[in-house]
Amino acid sequence: MTAVKTTNELIRPHGGTLINRVLSGKEHEQQLEKAQKSKRITINAWAISDLELIAIGGFSPLTGFMNQKDYESVIEKTHLSNGLVWSIPITLPVTEKTANQLKVGETVALYGEDDVLYGTIEIEGKYSYDKQKEAQSVYGTTDPNHPGVKKVFEKGEVYLSGPIHLLNRPQHDAFTNYHFDPKETRQLFEKLGWKTVVGFQTRNPVHRAHEYIQKSALEIVDGLLLNPLVGETKSDDIPADVRMKSYEVILKNYFPENKAQLAIYPAAMRYAGPKEAILHATVRKNYGCTHFIVGRDHAGVGDYYGTYEAQELIAQYEDELDIQILKFEHAFYCEKCKNMATAKTCPHGKEHHVHLSGTKVREKLRKGESLPETFSRPEVANVLIEGLKER
Ligand code: ADX
Repeated sequence: MTAVKTTNELIRPHGGTLINRVLSGKEHEQQLEKAQKSKRITINAWAISDLELIAIGGFSPLTGFMNQKDYESVIEKTHLSNGLVWSIPITLPVTEKTANQLKVGETVALYGEDDVLYGTIEIEGKYSYDKQKEAQSVYGTTDPNHPGVKKVFEKGEVYLSGPIHLLNRPQHDAFTNYHFDPKETRQLFEKLGWKTVVGFQTRNPVHRAHEYIQKSALEIVDGLLLNPLVGETKSDDIPADVRMKSYEVILKNYFPENKAQLAIYPAAMRYAGPKEAILHATVRKNYGCTHFIVGRDHAGVGDYYGTYEAQELIAQYEDELDIQILKFEHAFYCEKCKNMATAKTCPHGKEHHVHLSGTKVREKLRKGESLPETFSRPEVANVLIEGLKER
């Protein structure tokens, strides 16, 4: 295990050590040679993003895909077997047929569907698992219409476990300026003089409600890490490259320079609501954030989770997580207050509040219709309309 010296003294990575499994120089050459002589398997985009996040330390203290002991401990107790809080299993699924061809102890080359060699795994174990149980634990439901549950039922029946190495970085071409590993965001925060940093997870464009809670947080911390998820999302979510342009315009027009940093989070979206909020906070701690925002229905989808269920669950683990969770109520624009507010600050009835569902917003944008300024900054809406028009 290679540890990275972290410069940000304020927040330690989860488990104490920032993991680095990205090989370079001679080690890279040797492992590449080994991989070329090894058996190969093809892994999907979701697994590649997990591989990358393990390797760059986003999933510290994990050094590989979880073994059965950790897997069961996470599913049953929301902790790794060493007692460290962890909410969602990070696993490498294969079919039974593939698993039967691989032996414990051997190194296996991991190729993407694009035929690129991304990394290797040294197989320490193979185990089968209960899909119903996993779905219930992670997603709180076994309904196959839930996009995360659907993935569970589609994947292979056996998990491979063992330490990994990353040999080729997945390309995030459209986002080169915003591609930072956890050790780099930590260095950046130090350079900017930020001692307290709030992390913001999003899979959507930044609308007025997001901006309101980000800026409320900025009133009490030194800086904001706008950390949009750019891995696999549902097909009806707004594509990451279009969203990235919208983040650039909002930061340029509405945030002071040197107070907000944009950086991609190369993970796949699980839509696991409360359990994913815990994972999101854990990862942002590894990126060097001291605070993390959990608003309404964090990482939710459809009606599977209650508005504040993620906040309630994460509150139970906050002390152990050791990152401060900033919980915000549902924010909206109030036509009477003439500003953004929540039920904590606005006395007026719902009829005065501007609400637009995600579906409604996408529908309007796809038709080329602008969004009300009370919902979205016009610069953001324009970028989204243009971006979706090009599709
Ligand atoms: S998420 O799936 O990535 O959580 P989204 O991008 O919509 O979805 O939300 C990003 C963050 O903003 C989450 O913490 C979410 O809870 C919060 N959030 C989104 N909309 C609102 C709102 N209207 N009021 C308060 N918090 C919100």
